[in-house]
Amino acid sequence: MSERGAAATPARAVTGTDPMQPAPWRVVRTQPETHDTFTMTLAPVGAGPPFTFEAGQFNMLFAPGVGEAAISMSGCTGTVDKVVHTIRAAGRVTKTLQGLKRGDVLGLRGPFGKPWPARQAEGHDVLLVAGGIGLAPLRPALCHMLENRERFGRVNLLFGARSPRDIVFAKEIETWRGRFDVNVEVTVDRAESDWHGRVGVVPTLVPRAQFDPANTVVFVCGPEIMMHFTRRELERHGVPDESIWVSMERNMKCGVGFCGHCQFGPLFICKDGPVFRYDRVASLLGIREV
Ligand SMILES: Cc1cc2nc3c(=O)[nH]c(=O)nc-3n(C[C@H](O)[C@H](O)[C@H](O)COP(=O)(O)OP(=O)(O)OC[C@H]3O[C@@H](n4cnc5c(N)ncnc54)[C@H](O)[C@@H]3O)c2cc1C
Ligand code: FES
Repeated sequence: MSERGAAATPARAVTGTDPMQPAPWRVVRTQPETHDTFTMTLAPVGAGPPFTFEAGQFNMLFAPGVGEAAISMSGCTGTVDKVVHTIRAAGRVTKTLQGLKRGDVLGLRGPFGKPWPARQAEGHDVLLVAGGIGLAPLRPALCHMLENRERFGRVNLLFGARSPRDIVFAKEIETWRGRFDVNVEVTVDRAESDWHGRVGVVPTLVPRAQFDPANTVVFVCGPEIMMHFTRRELERHGVPDESIWVSMERNMKCGVGFCGHCQFGPLFICKDGPVFRYDRVASLLGIREV
């Protein structure tokens, strides 16, 4: 499978000609997903160029007076008048974003990065494999596939969370599960006796997916250890590395290839990724930032 798929149509920058200049966006809605994760809907302040993005791309969100963090779009793709992000309150910036209320204004630069190669997946079986908040960047890909269902073979979502209370998009997962044209498998690492679902790590879901290994495209997003063991399980089932795509996370500053902060061996996560074909980053997985 060609690697060029990830370099699909570049999205238009909402920030105009200067990608370092955040544009003001207003909080329209904030909705809790779990105890530490929330989904935030933003609309631009004033008129501007249309915001167009593809699944897997990210924005730099600027919490005034605190700093910026890279956050993927988690809403459906295309040209949109509102942008949706799902955020885990992990540190200073994301905790500040969590505290914003409807009507508050933040800064946004983007969209940046290479998307999932959704067009290359057309005509193939698809496995979307997510760990925790890794479901956020995969949700637009699933949304696109469900909206264009006839273009894809069997579609599988394999999702793992640390515990039942860490399951993001819980209601939507129920809705997807109710459809006949997508296979949804969920597991948790650990649970109390009131959990009636599966317990185990995400790679244990691979044998439950419905796919032809020779005709399958896999998108994986989650902690690197989870991506590593998922790929190993896929290999056991005959899926070649050229069919596996992963989304990498590293600390970002500029988001556009200027500062070198996200350098990952010879690659810049912000502009060469965050989505990479597995064989391109295999030797670098697990290496800490330089
Ligand atoms: C391309 C890309 C896409 C991303 N998409 C998303 C997304 O959609 N949603 C999302 O939630 N995140 C996403 N991230 C991750 C997000 O950018 C980082 O988590 C970012 O560092 C958060 O910034 P922060 O200032 O809030 O946290 P930071 O201060 O940078 O903290 C990040 C890490 O440090 C730990 N930490 C922070 N403070 C402390 C402390 N006092 N003690 C111990 N540990 C601490 C946190 O647990 C966390 O693991 C993405 C990253 C990339 C590169
Ligand atoms: S974040 Fe600056 S080069 Fe990638």
